[in-house]
Amino acid sequence: MPIVYDKSRKIFHLQAGDTSYIMQIVKEKYLVHLYWGRRISSYHESRRIIWKDRGFAPNPDTSDRTFSLDTLPQEYPQTGNGDFRNPAYGIRQENGSRISNLEYIGYEISDGKPKLPGLPASSGSKKNVQTLKVYMEDAVAGLNVCLLYSVFASESVITRSVIFLNKGKKPLHLTKMLSMSVDIREDEFDVLTLYGAHNNERNMDRRPLSSGTVKIESLRGTSSPHQAPFMALLRKGADEDQGEVFAANFVYSGNFLAEVQVDPYRNIRFQMGMNPWNGEWKLEAGEMFQTPEVVMVYSKQGLGEMSRTFHKFYQNHLVRSPYAKKERPILINNWEATFFDFDEEKLLSLARKAASAGIELFVLDDGWFGHRDADDSSLGDWFVDKRKLPNGLKSLAEKIHDMGMQFGLWFEPEMISQDSELYRKHPDYVLHTEERPYTIGRGQLVLDLSRKEVCDYVIAAVRQILKDNPIDYVKWDMNRHLTDVGSMYFEPDRQGEITHRYVLGLYYIMDVLTSEFSEILFESCSSGGGRFDPGMLYYMPQTWCSDNTDAVCRMKIQYATSLTYPPITMGAHVSVVPNQQTGRVSPLATRGYVAMSGNFGYELDLGNLTDEELEYVKEQIQCYKMIRPVIQHGDFYRIRNPFNENLATWNFVSQDQKRAVAFFFEILSQPAAPVRILKLKGLHPDKLYRRYDNGEIYSGDELMYCGISIPLKKEDFRGEMYCFEEIEKGEENGH
Ligand code: DGJ
Repeated sequence: MPIVYDKSRKIFHLQAGDTSYIMQIVKEKYLVHLYWGRRISSYHESRRIIWKDRGFAPNPDTSDRTFSLDTLPQEYPQTGNGDFRNPAYGIRQENGSRISNLEYIGYEISDGKPKLPGLPASSGSKKNVQTLKVYMEDAVAGLNVCLLYSVFASESVITRSVIFLNKGKKPLHLTKMLSMSVDIREDEFDVLTLYGAHNNERNMDRRPLSSGTVKIESLRGTSSPHQAPFMALLRKGADEDQGEVFAANFVYSGNFLAEVQVDPYRNIRFQMGMNPWNGEWKLEAGEMFQTPEVVMVYSKQGLGEMSRTFHKFYQNHLVRSPYAKKERPILINNWEATFFDFDEEKLLSLARKAASAGIELFVLDDGWFGHRDADDSSLGDWFVDKRKLPNGLKSLAEKIHDMGMQFGLWFEPEMISQDSELYRKHPDYVLHTEERPYTIGRGQLVLDLSRKEVCDYVIAAVRQILKDNPIDYVKWDMNRHLTDVGSMYFEPDRQGEITHRYVLGLYYIMDVLTSEFSEILFESCSSGGGRFDPGMLYYMPQTWCSDNTDAVCRMKIQYATSLTYPPITMGAHVSVVPNQQTGRVSPLATRGYVAMSGNFGYELDLGNLTDEELEYVKEQIQCYKMIRPVIQHGDFYRIRNPFNENLATWNFVSQDQKRAVAFFFEILSQPAAPVRILKLKGLHPDKLYRRYDNGEIYSGDELMYCGISIPLKKEDFRGEMYCFEEIEKGEENGH
């Protein structure tokens, strides 16, 4: 059983895969955190709390000066009664009081995992997950809090969420409602976060914990390219392959907060949840509020194991699309080939070339609707632009189908242009506050998705296009962040809810559309990977990883994205050189190998390639089709880290360890260059593998521990690929 309650000691012991998580009720009412770490078989209070009278630490029990909330490792800390560290939640009562005090009142253990209404969340069967609910109450405020812990038996994963219930007679305002708080009585950790910007998403930032707080957040209304909703604590010295890692990832696409605070006695408080900045929620008497879910992963073997745990967990328990387990088509997207400047013939000519090269899906990007010749018009007018496509979308889609390819279409459904029929009819649909001018971003405004009426308009508009046309794939874009957040359709004391209501509205829309059109493959996008988070993955099984298609930049972006998300979720395309984002000229082979390390496609005008290049593109496509099962459904191992050195290497291994694909990249050519050795990971040590390109046979342990020597080459931005397949014992003699 993953969850055990020891009644005599009042101890909860949660066991998920390789990890144990232990809490205790002390003094009959306080829920205390004791341990999160490597799985132990049973707990007999070895790691007990040492009570101590500390200066400035108030005592709720006057008879015991050693007991203070200020030093207690609390599981869901409150505010106003002696814990001066960061609280996990906050309230405001009708009388203005902001003090709250939670006391333990009971628990419940059940098989399975309850759904989070209106929110994306992981799921599991009654056989593989158990859920603990711990009930707490603040009797003065009339607040009940339920802490939910879902414990996955064979994965090192625990998910957390919190339900608030106003049991009182008066309204109550939630001013902070984090999903996770863990007090760890140790501080020898580094903190790892992922920061970035448009075109430069997810850079690895590892820093030591010292004093005070390390905090990352988004205040942009979306999870953002600027900080990812991810934070990990790494034991000192932990690296890719060894050492403990404690990671948290937030299943949410709006404003978030992740922080770790070191207290004066070198304990740390690790927290994650919705950002309390401008974010409140009013609970009328009897109403409930549930926070989004945090996925907590423990790894005893470094970042590599952490990532593979996230990858498997997301593919098996989060991504709900039927495409989760299916191979994804190789696509061509017309965006970087044509931008807004296209007509039917131009698209068909690109499509013909793509079809003859073996591409499987043609995606028509921005510019097909309204009169959109630039990015400042027509968003909201989801009807075809007959100037560009006089025969309509259906005819275009059918012609593409006749070429043997699937047809995909771009939308940016959350937005509205001032130059649009929708705006002229419904200026009230814009997210805005009265009396203030709009703040424009990328020439456009945001729809007020806090209103159901607006959400239903979006659903109807997208539904119509999807019904009327044979569409196999949708790219769901979102190209600006939320400003002027407010909605006159809500009372003044609910204005703090609008950002979250926007996200809930978006989830409602995506829930309806992806359920109704489950046969369509959806890819999310926010100017590239600006909203690459588990919340989006729940609805849409892949994400355009970055607008930056430069192969060298992509090595880092994809490397760091793989910390939490599997390669199958990362849209990765070959584009032209000089690259449109960086001006860099990298070899077609390298561009191909980087893109083949994810969900492969092209984003260029094939008509501008030489015959020789086009032939090579055909070879790349054939090659990807062969290795696709290993890339998309195999295990991923990072080997050399481009954030630290002039190299990037990684390999994929099929689940049965019969096939492996390794990629080696050396970024700049060097004088007096060392001969590099590529040591693969994750192979079966006793199996024999044949290398595709030269037929040589090696044992698995040889490839992993001895490694293969990489011949020297004088070439910048160099890429190599090595494929291996198991051979039966004895076969090597015939070679
Ligand atoms: C941003 C996306 O990331 C691009 O791929 C492209 O779809 C443009 N938007 C279109 O406006």
